[in-house]
Amino acid sequence: MVVALLVGVAALRGTLDGVPDRDAPAVSPLRPAGDRYAGVAIRADLLDDEGYAELAARAYGAVTPENELKWERTQPERGRYTFDDADRVVDWARSHGMRVRGHALVWHLQNPRWLTDLRPSRRRAIALLRDHIRTVMGHFRGRIHEWDVVNEAVEDDRGALRDTPWLRWIGPEYVDLAFRFAREADPRARLVYNDYGAEQEGTKADGVLRLLRGLKARGVPVDAVGLQGHVSTERLPGFTATLERYAALGLDVLFTEVDVRVPVGGDGAPTGGEAALADQAGRYATLARGCVALPACKGFVVWGVDDADSWVPEAYPGEGAALPFDGDLREKPAYGALRDALAGG
Ligand code: G3I
Repeated sequence: MVVALLVGVAALRGTLDGVPDRDAPAVSPLRPAGDRYAGVAIRADLLDDEGYAELAARAYGAVTPENELKWERTQPERGRYTFDDADRVVDWARSHGMRVRGHALVWHLQNPRWLTDLRPSRRRAIALLRDHIRTVMGHFRGRIHEWDVVNEAVEDDRGALRDTPWLRWIGPEYVDLAFRFAREADPRARLVYNDYGAEQEGTKADGVLRLLRGLKARGVPVDAVGLQGHVSTERLPGFTATLERYAALGLDVLFTEVDVRVPVGGDGAPTGGEAALADQAGRYATLARGCVALPACKGFVVWGVDDADSWVPEAYPGEGAALPFDGDLREKPAYGALRDALAGG
């Protein structure tokens, strides 16, 4: 009777609050070789979906809050900080013995209107930057082991610093200052410069390398480069050599937001069928092998638990199905390929 009642309530839950009930499959966890971690991006609102949460905790050993630590969420009004959603993800992760990486302290997107509407003096902008970094990192000190301090500061075409509010208000030194404030705020955290499209040779990687070389030369406390790894199944020219160039600067290398998109139809399923899923698995394996082959590579994070919650279909119409589990939480070939490659196979 009690069981029947509980089952009834669970079945209703999905229809009552819009949270789907999906069962987590039995999966063997990712166990990366050496001192590396394997993580996944998590959204606070999806933790109510037990299948989603259980699968994430079974498969992965680390978590990145996908949106909950961005400015619009942590400082929605000037001087008023809110950490409820981020705390939820962090507490959940820690209660499952998972590590947490923080994303992101300085970015040109997902900022609150009050911030982007400001026209502060340079001095005032520096004070805002310091206050935000101090307060957010201070709140999570000891609970978040590494931070994306500056995200996507390099533009794609020329590899120069991107035009952002912080560049306009402070000048190029904003990058240095962000890292210095971050070191002050939590001296034990690994501090990361994070960007996309820089895992292969080209103008973007050259620009990121130039920025990082400059930071190191000026004694700025940057510890790692985060390569987001939002890729398709197309070739990645100069992949291995590019990773080695970052490591040669004395930096750790992290894969921070990996997903591999494939062409999909209106129903969200890959139009290429099993062959497309095999190609996708191969691409996950290539990225993971690149990490395992590089002693400096310390972490590998997938950008979302399953295809139903991925950012890809919205951003790339006609593409999607980019994650190792499908929208029903079923394991795709990519997961096994990733597990084997991360284990050093
Ligand atoms: O929270 C609102 C919700 O209240 C509303 O009902 C819903 C309706 O669309 O929108 C929700 O906000 C969305 C949010 O994701 C949470 O799902 C935003 O519209 C949407 O823009 C936001 O997208 C995020 C995107 O960053 C913003 O640029 C993606 O989830 C997130 O995966 C993506 O992550 C970025 C990394 O931070 C940096 N690197 C690239 C990566 C992919 O774009």
